Amino acid sequence: MTKRVAILISGSGSNMVALAEAMQGDFPARPALPYGKDRAAFEAELTRVLEEAQPDIICLAGFMRILTPEFTGHWAGKMLNIHPSLLPKYKGLHTHQRAIDAGDDEAGCSVHEATAELDGGPVLGQARVTIEPGETPDSLAAKVLVWEHKLYPEVLRRFACGDRTPVSLP
Ligand code: GRF
Repeated sequence: MTKRVAILISGSGSNMVALAEAMQGDFPARPALPYGKDRAAFEAELTRVLEEAQPDIICLAGFMRILTPEFTGHWAGKMLNIHPSLLPKYKGLHTHQRAIDAGDDEAGCSVHEATAELDGGPVLGQARVTIEPGETPDSLAAKVLVWEHKLYPEVLRRFACGDRTPVSLP
């Protein structure tokens, strides 16, 4: 059965677009609710609105707010997040700068189950890119974002079918 997906964003929404565009045809999930920027309305209404929409899965897609343990606990096992690093490396902010500063030769992105631990929870897929000489945080972010848009729909496809086998890209 096709799964209903709620998508939460706080950035420019490009990951939301990638997910929404993927959810067509025989894709095993459909968008039920994308929720964007209005913080006050968001904080007041998130649980009410989500429960009304009855999502089977919640995709945090560039969603940069920390959620309470009550919230993550309520949706345990149903909520995914994308993070622009090869977790468990570089949880939190400034991931690309940190990877470059560390002298890493690769970076990437991870989709994981969202739990009470920030950028924690089981990793369900990763995509890797090479860090080139002269790479900047902006150039690396742009390169990784391209892979975010491929990785997240692919993990969602599997997750919606109950398959938690990790995705590895490219
Ligand atoms: C993505 O890189 C996401 O991983 C990070 O913020 C960015 C949001 O991009 N947390 P968008 O809003 O999906 O375009």
